[in-house]
Amino acid sequence: MRSWRPSPSPLRQSMVAVVVVMAATAWCAAAQAAQLSQSYYASTCPNVETLVRGAVTQKLQETFNAAPGTLRLFFHDCFVRGCDASVLLSGPDDEHSAGADTTLSPDALDLITRAKAAVDGDAQCANKVSCADILALAARDVVSQTGGPYYQVELGRLDGKVGTRAVVKHSLPGAGFDLDQLNTLFAANGLTQTDMIALSGGHTIGVTHCDKFVRRLYPFKGSRGGAGGAGPPMNLYFLRQMRQTCPLNYSPSAFAMLDAVTPRKFDNGYYQTLQQMKGLLASDQVLFADRRSRATVNYFAANQTAFFDAFVAAMAKLGRVGVKTGSDGEIRRVCTKVN
Ligand code: HEM
Ligand SMILES: *[C@@H]1O[C@H](CO)[C@@H](O)[C@H](O)[C@H]1NC(C)=O
Repeated sequence: MRSWRPSPSPLRQSMVAVVVVMAATAWCAAAQAAQLSQSYYASTCPNVETLVRGAVTQKLQETFNAAPGTLRLFFHDCFVRGCDASVLLSGPDDEHSAGADTTLSPDALDLITRAKAAVDGDAQCANKVSCADILALAARDVVSQTGGPYYQVELGRLDGKVGTRAVVKHSLPGAGFDLDQLNTLFAANGLTQTDMIALSGGHTIGVTHCDKFVRRLYPFKGSRGGAGGAGPPMNLYFLRQMRQTCPLNYSPSAFAMLDAVTPRKFDNGYYQTLQQMKGLLASDQVLFADRRSRATVNYFAANQTAFFDAFVAAMAKLGRVGVKTGSDGEIRRVCTKVN
């Protein structure tokens, strides 16, 4: 920000607008949280948890990729316009075609479609359960089915009626974010630094494509292509390995595991990779590199129970962001389309 500018640039104006929107989102989340409840569907669809879990189990048997994909989908949903399934909308206004992020997992979208079909296939439940709630339940189920904690999910979110395109870019964190940028964005969604570090533990499963961290592998090349900044230093042996995975002429489909040690297990291994300087994204490694967050990383690396407890608490808070319970929401008949 340069103070000598005579008037704010359009970019700066839009960033101010985004911050205002995010603050309003956080405020709404606090104001409406009381309306969510674990027993929301007790009389309208008592089997909802079993129905969703069945669809998740079946999909994960076919492809593990759906697990990290679904967890990430829930995070993006809640940060973009609140947890209202707007991230699932596929139209000219959706996140995928907008070019903001083409990496959302088709397997995760398929998992939600199937879970919705399972729920609506039960006569009692048909058209009574929101896609936003199905996504929140599915995120819990992929965590527990990959070795993570099982926890109760608050329900009662309605599906949003508006696509995501206008806000998606500035709503999500970048792979090159430093600690202050991460804290600012998460705080705008009502989340503390500890919540942010615990939620980043979601990177204990799944992958990242080369473009998100290649700048860290070849900093001296001054490459401008990657999304991440060079960030903190990387373990030298690991860096050599990653240069083989992502050579300078890497293919767009090339990727590496976010948790190199136990990429298919939801555990605290992610924090141990950070201690070993083997975090791939700059935004991951910075949690250990920055003195202000290092103690929490060390704590989660040493005590998996403490990580699981903090993750569960943070997921509940994440699930309350920008929830819709009034006329601004609906129960979508098809998760990818507004009614
Ligand atoms: C803290 C800020 C965060 C940043 C900068 C970030 C960034 C990223 C990036 C760049 C990728 C790789 C995408 C790709 O190349 O395909 C990724 C993947 C992933 N993220 Fe995050 N993320 C953050 C927080 C979170 C949170 C809070 C969660 C969930 C609790 C999460 C869950 C995941 C998962 C599970 C994957 C793997 C997806 C897959 O394998 O399909 N992330 N993230
Ligand atoms: C690990 O964390 C849990 C939950 O916070 C706590 O009850 C337990 O005492 C911790 N264990 C150790 C060895 O510090």
